[in-house]
Amino acid sequence: MIKKYLFVITCALGLAFPAIQAQAEVDKHARNLAASCAACHGTSGHSAGGTPVLAGMDKALFIGSMKDFKSGARPATVMHQHAKGYTDDEFSLLADFFAVQKR
Ligand code: HEC
Repeated sequence: MIKKYLFVITCALGLAFPAIQAQAEVDKHARNLAASCAACHGTSGHSAGGTPVLAGMDKALFIGSMKDFKSGARPATVMHQHAKGYTDDEFSLLADFFAVQKR
C-alpha cells in the first residue's frame, strides 16, 4: 500500500518536475554502469572480500584511482582493463553512485 502511494507520488513529481526525471535517468545510467562492477566488487560496491569495497568510497579518490588505472599510472591485475572502457563523465557518475552507498 505504502509502495503504491510512493509510486504515485514519484510519478506526480516526475510529471511536475522534468529535472527530477532527468536525475532519475542519470541514476539509472549510473546503476547500469555499476552493475558491471558487481561481479567482483559486490552489489552496489559491498564487496564480500577479495576486492576493495567501493561503497562509500570518497569521490575524488575513486575518480583518481580510475584515471590512474586507465593511464597505467597505478599497477593493477584487472582494473586497468576495466577502466579503459569508461569516459571521465562515466567515472564521475560511478563515483557519485558509489559515494552515496552506505558502507
Ligand atoms: C574482474 C573483477 C573486477 C571487476 C569486474 C571490477 N573490478 Fe575493480 N578491482 C578489482 C581488483 C582485483 C582490484 C584491485 C586492483 C587490481 O588488482 O586490479 C580492484 C580495484 C578497484 C578500485 C580501487 C579501490 C581502492 O580502494 O583503491 C576501484 C575504484 C575499482 N576497482 C572500481 C571498479 C569499478 C568502478 C568497476 C566497474 C566499472 C570495477 N572496479 C570492476 C576487480 C574488479
